[in-house]
Amino acid sequence: MRLPYCFYHLIGDYSDFNAELPSCYSWHVWRPSLRAPWFRAKSNLRTKLRFAFRTAVHVLGLFATQECGAICVVQEGSLVHYSGFTPRYWRFRFIVGEDMQIGDTWTDPSHRGKGIAFFALQQILRIERSPGRSFWYVVGESNLPSIRVVKKAGFSLVAKGRWVRPLGIKLFGSYMMEEERGVEQLESVAGAAQPSLSQAVTIPPDP
Ligand SMILES: CC(C)(COP(=O)(O)OP(=O)(O)OC[C@H]1O[C@@H](n2cnc3c(N)ncnc32)[C@H](O)[C@@H]1OP(=O)(O)O)[C@@H](O)C(=O)NCCC(=O)NCCS
Repeated sequence: MRLPYCFYHLIGDYSDFNAELPSCYSWHVWRPSLRAPWFRAKSNLRTKLRFAFRTAVHVLGLFATQECGAICVVQEGSLVHYSGFTPRYWRFRFIVGEDMQIGDTWTDPSHRGKGIAFFALQQILRIERSPGRSFWYVVGESNLPSIRVVKKAGFSLVAKGRWVRPLGIKLFGSYMMEEERGVEQLESVAGAAQPSLSQAVTIPPDP
C-alpha cells in the first residue's frame, strides 16, 4: 500500500532559534475565539474558513487542550503566511499527552523562499515549548519545500502513513501512521518516492 504522508517528530532540545523575518513583514500570534474567529488581515474567504474551522473546533471543546493557534505574517495589511498549531484532535489521533502538531502551513506564492515558514515554525516551537512536550508535522512525501523547512528545524522522519476518510467524508478525515521504521530506512523510502528538485510539485495542505 502506498503511504504518501511523512510523519516528522521533534523531541527534546529545540532551543536554537536563529531564524529572522525580513523587516518588511510583521508577525502575530492568533488564538481562536468567537471575537476573532479568523486572523484580521486581508485574506481570501477560503483562508478565513480555515481559521474559522479551528475556532469552531476550539469553541466546541474538541481539542484535547486549549493551546491552539497560528503564527500569522503580514505585509502591508495582507496575510502572506500562516502556520497553525493544535493539540490532539480527531485529525491527529496519534498525538498523546501535551504534544502538539504544527500544520496547515501556507506562504503566499509571491513571498516563498524568504524563510517565512521556517521563521514561523521556530516561533511556534519557542512559544509553545514546555517540559516533556514534543511536536509533530505531517507532510506529503512530494512536498519538498515543506520537508526542507521541517528538517531544517530539526525534526526527524519517524513514520509514514496515509490520510483516511471514514465514509469518504473529508471532515472526518485523519492521518494514520502505518509504518514506523528506523529513520535511515524511512529516509530512503521517502527519498525514493520524491521527485527530483526539477520535477518537484507542491501539494496544498490538508485542512
Ligand atoms: C511549504 C511552504 C509553506 C514553505 O513556505 P516558505 O515561506 O517558502 O518557506 P521557507 O522560505 O521558510 O523555506 C522553503 C525552503 O524550501 C526550499 N525549497 C523551495 N522549493 C524547493 C524544492 N522544490 N525542493 C527542495 N527545496 C525547496 C527553499 O530553498 C527553502 O529552503 P532554504 O531556506 O534552505 O533555501 C510553501 O511552499 C507553501 O505555502 N506551500 C503550499 C502549501 C503547503 O504545501 N503547505 C505545507 C503543508 S505540510
